[in-house]
Amino acid sequence: MTPDIRLNQAPAHQRHGSNIGQPLTRRDGILKVTGKAPYAADHHPKGMLYAVLATSSIARGRVTFLDIAAAKRHPGVVDVMTPSHKPALAEDQDAKTNPFMFKMELLQSDAVRYANQAIAVVIAETLEAATEGAALLAPQYQALPARVGLDADESFVPPAVGLGHPAIVEHGDTEAGLANATYAIDATYETPAQYHNPMEPHAIIAEWDGDKLSIDTPSQGMAMAQMRIGGLFGIPPENIHIRSPFLGGGFGSKGLISGPQILGIMAARLVGRPVKLVLRRDQMYGPVGHRSPSRQRLRLGTDAAGRLTAIEHQARIVTSTFDDFYEPAADVSHTLFASPAIRTAHEAVRIDSGTPLFMRAPGEATGSIALDAAIDEMAFASGVDPLEFRISNDAPVEPITGKPFSSKALRECYAQGAARFGWAGRPLKPRQMRDDKGFLVGWGMGTATFPALMFAGNARALLRADGTGAMETGAHDMGQGASTALAQVAAEGLGLDLDRVEFKSGSSDLPDAGIAGGSAHTATVGTAIHNAGAAVIAKLADLAMRDERSPLFGAGNAGVVARNGRLHRRDDDARSEAYADILTRAGLAEIEASGTGAADPAAQAEYAMHAHGAVFAEVKVDPDLGQIRVTRMIGAFAAGRIVNPKLVRSQLLGGMIWGVSFALHEQAVTDGRSGRIMNANLAEYHVPVNADVPSMDVLTVHEHDPHVNALGIKGVGEIGITGSAGAVANAVWHATGVRPRRFPIRISDLVTAR
Ligand code: MOS
Repeated sequence: MTPDIRLNQAPAHQRHGSNIGQPLTRRDGILKVTGKAPYAADHHPKGMLYAVLATSSIARGRVTFLDIAAAKRHPGVVDVMTPSHKPALAEDQDAKTNPFMFKMELLQSDAVRYANQAIAVVIAETLEAATEGAALLAPQYQALPARVGLDADESFVPPAVGLGHPAIVEHGDTEAGLANATYAIDATYETPAQYHNPMEPHAIIAEWDGDKLSIDTPSQGMAMAQMRIGGLFGIPPENIHIRSPFLGGGFGSKGLISGPQILGIMAARLVGRPVKLVLRRDQMYGPVGHRSPSRQRLRLGTDAAGRLTAIEHQARIVTSTFDDFYEPAADVSHTLFASPAIRTAHEAVRIDSGTPLFMRAPGEATGSIALDAAIDEMAFASGVDPLEFRISNDAPVEPITGKPFSSKALRECYAQGAARFGWAGRPLKPRQMRDDKGFLVGWGMGTATFPALMFAGNARALLRADGTGAMETGAHDMGQGASTALAQVAAEGLGLDLDRVEFKSGSSDLPDAGIAGGSAHTATVGTAIHNAGAAVIAKLADLAMRDERSPLFGAGNAGVVARNGRLHRRDDDARSEAYADILTRAGLAEIEASGTGAADPAAQAEYAMHAHGAVFAEVKVDPDLGQIRVTRMIGAFAAGRIVNPKLVRSQLLGGMIWGVSFALHEQAVTDGRSGRIMNANLAEYHVPVNADVPSMDVLTVHEHDPHVNALGIKGVGEIGITGSAGAVANAVWHATGVRPRRFPIRISDLVTAR
């Protein structure tokens, strides 16, 4: 007798008491706002020492002297870890066996590869002593001129961009498309280096017990971190226990274990005591990744009716001198707009900086601000309203591959967003609108897009004789709400009320949930949880249906439905039995089953899978001072199944604020002489504060996607930033008539064009 496990695959609107789709408040919210949620650095194991990094003030060269004696003389200093005094590693820190891996600076030599690189670690009884000891090292250097900026060196075509995409993609004949175009634009845009700046700095507390290692550290990918640490220290990954229950943000920077975290583990090994190492804010501008700056040239052409004839998107990006991460900035042009010819090309230069990394919609954020601006320029050049232009050039199938979309409610996003914003009647020309104070008013829009990715993850489901259930998965909540949304999926999968389900995550001794990144965590781990839930319910149903004493005996092909802790016969809902009774009668304290979530290669081969959205922005610009205020934004997004509307709204609002940030605020400024970042702090590296954030609203557009995964989830983690930055930039143009081509947009770009 095969139990019917379709019971967990009914679409949400056919279910009763669905936990999925409820706008639940974050379950960890109270803990966080009352300070009771322990972050990594809150841990103080007995006998713990403090480690502080000494970091390089040059960007290239060698350390020629460290006053180790002075540091060691300082009261409380226990040891100073340097290239000549450190534990041996089992593996080359510069070996790179997969793209999900940093090459690291682990005091392997006296060489300096970028500013803020660790050059020594001082370990002391107190944080103050370690800090003072690090200052006493007074390093001396032999400095070489730093190679910085997008023009630093000879460019080359990277072997691949992002996670293995080709650097150059050609579809059709772009040169012919441009030559035959009635209207054409050719514009170059520049975006700056940006740093993730999660509120919680990277921190680690490491404690060795023989060849077993226990660490508290914020992680977006515990299993990968276990592998990396295991390799470096020559111990099996399962010897490493990582606890990461709460993260104060990650934005990509905690996806890969970083050099400073490994240095904390090395320090603990060196002194034989637990060690805490927490990065200072300025020390995060180097070893933990950042978004590459870019220079992007877009050449677009249309026919007389405003239909695209060609899209060419070239991107120049940077990477470090020693590692290989290449921002896939131009890839966003592959999927959104129908054009008979599309060409994207990346070239890179190597500079003396830390290695760039994925950050908040890597590729799409950087590329979409340029594409959105270019589309706006192209629409104006062809005399068409940008919304109408986007709709008439909207790709009905994925342009290069020709694949149908698994679902694509972008036109509904355009329509609903425009209606809510009040886009109709927008003057085509810039500088046409003023408010009652005389400020220039502009309206702009952008198109949001992000791939619906899935990585691989696992979950284990338990049902217990006391009527409760548990779901275990090593998932990561970096602030996005995973521990709430995934618990909802778990409750749904187990057919239990949420308060009867123990949801365990954030620890590496639970089933590997893969990486929280690529906006794929809810889709991936949600699918694993769904499958684990279905599997354990199937076991339970099997127990009942085989037992003559159960009202479910012989339910057979009709199957059962799991609801509120009871199994009901599908053909006779009144005949039901509680989970607890089934297990008790069978003499079982609990039963368990596992589930996995991963992309379905067959579905992926057949369909293009992306989330979409439309963002509309209003800005007001002081005509005399050039000061820009974003005053209103509306984002309409279609991302498949919405697991928790409250959390999703919060994610999307956050993403739109990142968009404002990209357009107007964020920029790391490098001193061309020293190669040092001049604003490595949150005072001068600007991020939006409340006063910078306008009135915003989010619409989620219904989208049923039967192909992405069993639950129809596409993910919302990163899409909010895409479209938003471009919408702001286009609104600035519409207000002022000045086309921003350099980001963040500066007042000085506007005042000259009054
Ligand atoms: Mo995201 S940049 O994949 O954490």
